[in-house]
Amino acid sequence: MRPKMAGGSALSRQAPRYPPRMADARDADEGRRARWNERYGRGEEVHAFRPSPPLEDAVRGVAPGLALDVACGAGRHALWLADAGWRVVAVDFAQAGLALLRAEAERRGTAARIQVVEADLEAVGAYVPEHARYDLVCDFYFLHRPLLGALGDAVRPGGRLAFAIHLEDPAAAAPHRFLLAPGELERIVRGWGWDVLHAREGPSGEGGHQHATAELVARKPA
Ligand SMILES: C[S@@+](CC[C@H](N)C(=O)[O-])C[C@H]1O[C@@H](n2cnc3c(N)ncnc32)[C@H](O)[C@@H]1O
Repeated sequence: MRPKMAGGSALSRQAPRYPPRMADARDADEGRRARWNERYGRGEEVHAFRPSPPLEDAVRGVAPGLALDVACGAGRHALWLADAGWRVVAVDFAQAGLALLRAEAERRGTAARIQVVEADLEAVGAYVPEHARYDLVCDFYFLHRPLLGALGDAVRPGGRLAFAIHLEDPAAAAPHRFLLAPGELERIVRGWGWDVLHAREGPSGEGGHQHATAELVARKPA
């Protein structure tokens, strides 16, 4: 599907950089989208609009600029960044989460700083972030490996990435496609030649997580 945007001009479109997916995978995504909408509809996953700690570390001492928040959910990171003076493009496929984000941004008076984009980040070509546009790209608790390179590409030279993504459970029988292998994220980003400013794997720094988390903050060479 095409991304739906509000509060800003349309983003330019580029050739997809990740591989096509099968129709049954799209059906599965629609089921997952419906489940996320139900969760947000019940008021879950809002986290009292408080950001995950690695985000605060990632931007400490950094002048506010333009940020991309992928899989933004109800918008706790986009809202926090906008409060701190950042402009934010916030992307998710769950309309109910985006509605919570819009309402909270209106309440705080920061809606003009947040561009909300409804898009399926796993559908080929549905959302491709612009090359070197962002001072900060955030991905909290969403893993779609084919998108990782595009997220790095979207950071401007000298800009930063902030990630917190769940890790495989060593006791689980098989790896799960939404979970990182130990060390995987740091290996990928170091492979790009970026400076890793913070990397930690272990229990999440916030409550309510079943899986361990890989946190990573990295800077693209200027
Ligand atoms: C665990 S929540 C994290 C939300 C937010 N980043 C946070 O930390 O509060 C995962 C988010 O990924 C979104 N999501 C899952 N698959 C997606 C997809 N294919 N395209 C866009 N968003 C997706 C869900 O709607 C949900 O908001």
